[in-house]
Amino acid sequence: MAEQIIPEHEIVTIPSDDQNLRQQCYAIRIDVFHHEQKFPLETEIDDMEDRSAHILLRLTPSHTPVGTIRAYKPPGADYYKLSRLAVLKPYRQYRFGRELVEALHDWVKLDAIKSGYKDYVTIVTHSQIPVKGFYAKFGYVAEGDEFDEDGDPHQKMVVRLPLST
Ligand SMILES: CC(C)(COP(=O)(O)OP(=O)(O)OC[C@H]1O[C@@H](n2cnc3c(N)ncnc32)[C@H](O)[C@@H]1OP(=O)(O)O)[C@@H](O)C(=O)NCCC(=O)NCCS
Repeated sequence: MAEQIIPEHEIVTIPSDDQNLRQQCYAIRIDVFHHEQKFPLETEIDDMEDRSAHILLRLTPSHTPVGTIRAYKPPGADYYKLSRLAVLKPYRQYRFGRELVEALHDWVKLDAIKSGYKDYVTIVTHSQIPVKGFYAKFGYVAEGDEFDEDGDPHQKMVVRLPLST
């Protein structure tokens, strides 16, 4: 089989005051979740954006944005939430989704340690049904029954990451 050539790329954790880069993440999400998957546009940008760490994967040297993911701690929760993972269709199967999840895990672990967490940190995601197997590769385990979110079935999946200092 021919060897896969992976486009040169980098991962950027976006500074909270960089609205330009954050808009690039929103544009990827709107392309994937609204135009491709037909989720409503109105709910794509929500009230968790300002408390989220937004991570962008872009090609180099062009800086073309191709993937994104975000993490936040819901108000009052002791866990973090992974959400809005999206890679533009022509760039799938290059392990970009994997790199974004791994970057998010690194960010969560650092933030948890800074916030005084000891031993482990929990991350929750609401997985679309066709990508449960993707999250399982990172240790996420299904909890409870499937439920409706934005008109589509989802599965709560949870992982516990050990914290080593
Ligand atoms: C889900 C998504 C982010 C995966 O991105 P990707 O860059 O194509 O995935 P990767 O190449 O990093 O795949 C990593 C691993 O997961 C596997 N994988 C990818 N998609 C999968 C799926 N739907 N189910 C099971 N495994 C999957 C890959 O084969 C690869 O396995 P390996 O590391 O053992 O070789 C991408 O398909 C996407 O954006 N989909 C549309 C948006 C979406 O559904 N987001 C999730 C919302 S819950």
